[in-house]
Amino acid sequence: MNVEGSVYLKFIMSTLTTSTIQGVSFESMAATFGTPLYVYDASIMERQVHALRQAFETIRIKYAAKALTNLSVLRFIRQMGVGVDVVSLQEAQLALLAGFRPADILFTPNCVSFEEIVEGVELGLTINLDNLPVLEKFGAKYRSSVPCVLRINPDILAGGNLKISTGHSHSKFGISIHQSDQIRSLVSRYGINLCGLHIHTGSELADLDVFMKMADILFSLAREFTTVKFLDFGGGLKVAYRPDESVTDVAELGRRLSAAFRDFSRKEGRELELWMEPGKYLVSEAGFLLVRTNVIKKTPKVTFVGVDSGLNHLIRPMMYDAYHAIENLSNPQGDLQPYTVVGNVCETDTFAAERPLPEVREGDLLLIRNAGAYGYSMASNYNSRFRPAEVLVINGEAKLIRTRDTLDHLLAGQVDIFK
Ligand code: LLP
Repeated sequence: MNVEGSVYLKFIMSTLTTSTIQGVSFESMAATFGTPLYVYDASIMERQVHALRQAFETIRIKYAAKALTNLSVLRFIRQMGVGVDVVSLQEAQLALLAGFRPADILFTPNCVSFEEIVEGVELGLTINLDNLPVLEKFGAKYRSSVPCVLRINPDILAGGNLKISTGHSHSKFGISIHQSDQIRSLVSRYGINLCGLHIHTGSELADLDVFMKMADILFSLAREFTTVKFLDFGGGLKVAYRPDESVTDVAELGRRLSAAFRDFSRKEGRELELWMEPGKYLVSEAGFLLVRTNVIKKTPKVTFVGVDSGLNHLIRPMMYDAYHAIENLSNPQGDLQPYTVVGNVCETDTFAAERPLPEVREGDLLLIRNAGAYGYSMASNYNSRFRPAEVLVINGEAKLIRTRDTLDHLLAGQVDIFK
C-alpha cells in the first residue's frame, strides 16, 4: 500500500470506528462483563424492523430465529409485533417461552421425521412442509382439518455463496417447482388446506429480480390454489459486511413487490398477505463481538494478532470465507499495518487475513462487526472453551442477557460412568 492509500484507509477506519452504542462504551462493557463478549444494540434491530415496514404497503415479518435465539432478543423482537420462523421444535419452545403465540410461529423444518411435524401441529404452529412424502402423510392424517404451507424449490441459483443458496435444483430444500403436478394430485386427493406458499432462495440476495422471479412462481401457484392466504418470500435480505458492499435495496423491493401484490388482487379479486423471514437483516448489524488481544506474534512472513476467541464463537469466516469488519478500539489512530487476526482454537481459525488495522498491541480491545446473525447461534464449546456472555444494550443501558459458560455447562448432561 502506498503512503496516500494508507492515509486514506486510516481516515476511513477512524470514521468507521464506533466506541459507544447508545452512549455506552464498548470499553466499559468489556470491563464489566469480560471478553469475549457478544453485544447487541436493540435500537439497530428497531431501525431495521421500521425500515422494512416503511418499505412495504403491508408486510408480516417472521423473524428467522435461527440467526440469534437469545430469549431476551426474541422477546424484544416480539414486542415490536414481529412473528417468528423456527426450524426445530426446540426453537419453537424458545419462541413460546419468549411469549410468541403459537399462531405467530411458522415452523419450517427440513428432512425431519413426521412425528416432529405432528408435534408442531399439536403445539398449534403453522406448518411449512418441504417434501412430497411428508405432504402425503400430512394429507392422509389431517385432510383439510389442519392448514399447511408448502415450501417450494424454485430452481433458482442465488445467494452469497453455494453453502447458503437453497433454491437451486440440487438443493435439499423445498418441493421442486417441477413437481407441481404431484403437489396438485396430493392436494386434491386429500383436500389439503393450503394456507400459504413459501420460498427461501438463499441468504444474501442483493438482486431484486430474484425476488420478482419468486413472486411470479408464487403468484402462479396461488392463482391455482385458491385457499392460499399468504406468500412468504423467506429471508435473504442482504446487509453490508464490507463498508462498500452492495445490499438489498429494501425500499425498491418494497415498491416492486407491493405493486405486484396490488396487481394480483386487482386481477384475481382476492388479497394475499406478503410475509418475509429476515434473519440477517434484523440482527446482523446489531451484533458485535468484542475480543481482547492475547498476543502479537511476528513470524518472518506474517504478523498475527491472537485474540481470546475463535471459530468456536464466530464460525462464519472459516465456514463461508465471510468478511467481518474489525476495528481496534484501543488504538483507532494508530498506524495501519497488515495483520492476520486469529483465534485461540487448535485449528486454523482466521478471522481476517492480512487486514490493515491501526497498530495492535497486546491487551488491545478489538470489535468484530456484523456478529449478530449466526454468531452466537452457531457458537460451540469446541476445545472445551466457554461460549461468551451476551449483552443487550437497550434504552441506553447494557443488560446481561446470558452469562458466560462455566465448567457446569461443559459437564451438563455428561454421565461419568467410571467415577
Ligand atoms: N427462512 C428460512 C427458511 C431460512 O432457511 C433462512 C436461513 C432464513 C429465513 C433467514 O435468512 P437470512 O435472512 O438470515 O439470510 N449461517 C449462514 C446463513 C444460513 C441461513 C440459513 N437459512 C450464514 O451465517 O451466512
